[in-house]
Amino acid sequence: MKILVLGDVSRSLSCKYVCDRLWRYRKDHGIDFVIVNGENCAETNGIDKNSVNMLFSAGTDVITTGNHAFKRYEAKTLFEEETMLLRPANYPGTVPGDGAVLADAAGMTVLVINLLGVVMMEPLENPFFTVEKILARYEGKYDISVLDFHAEATSEKQALAFYLDGRISLFYGTHTHVATADECILPGGTAYITDVGMCGPDFSVLGIKPECIIEKMTTGLPVKFIPSANAVTAHGIEVEFDRKTKKAISIKRITF
Ligand SMILES: [Fe+2]
Repeated sequence: MKILVLGDVSRSLSCKYVCDRLWRYRKDHGIDFVIVNGENCAETNGIDKNSVNMLFSAGTDVITTGNHAFKRYEAKTLFEEETMLLRPANYPGTVPGDGAVLADAAGMTVLVINLLGVVMMEPLENPFFTVEKILARYEGKYDISVLDFHAEATSEKQALAFYLDGRISLFYGTHTHVATADECILPGGTAYITDVGMCGPDFSVLGIKPECIIEKMTTGLPVKFIPSANAVTAHGIEVEFDRKTKKAISIKRITF
């Protein structure tokens, strides 16, 4: 059983790029299940109905998000309507949507969880505690569990991964937009990577024109962030699972 994960889709140009190629990639690589982080796949940033529809129509099974999930007002309704669109689970329970879902993947049940880090980010519920509640709520109801940990600090990603090693089948990080070279199977059996990277323009600073960020960093003044119009590369991971043991066999970085 093969899962494809794609990192943060940066703006509508990259969303179109991914959507134009995803079905072909699924077919050519024998992918059974696709998870995409779509927190910034709308025209400027955030997520909107059009980009969500595009990603689902293009072969995405579950869309995860992060700190930009509610950037647009319309997102509140979207998270209520779309069960396969997740917002981070450690928001208060009164926030629309859910942070975990069960989905079918070629005859296996996959529990997909989405969490936000709290180091150098919003002061939400401690993800260590939130994930325990989710695992207890879904105990015995799934074959494979996948966690998109949308976080800034590498240390927080590594610490939560080791804490969950053997209890989550696949743990990957998003948010920092740059793929890390540490993909591995942890000692307890969890497939892990600190960050899967982004689906966004090459030669940019996290998807934005470098000159905007350079101006901000050399003046300290507010600057309009203009998305780079360079060619796009999609970054992600392919993870293969043994159907009998339900454990990860391999994890590799991919681009297209
Ligand atoms: Fe983010």
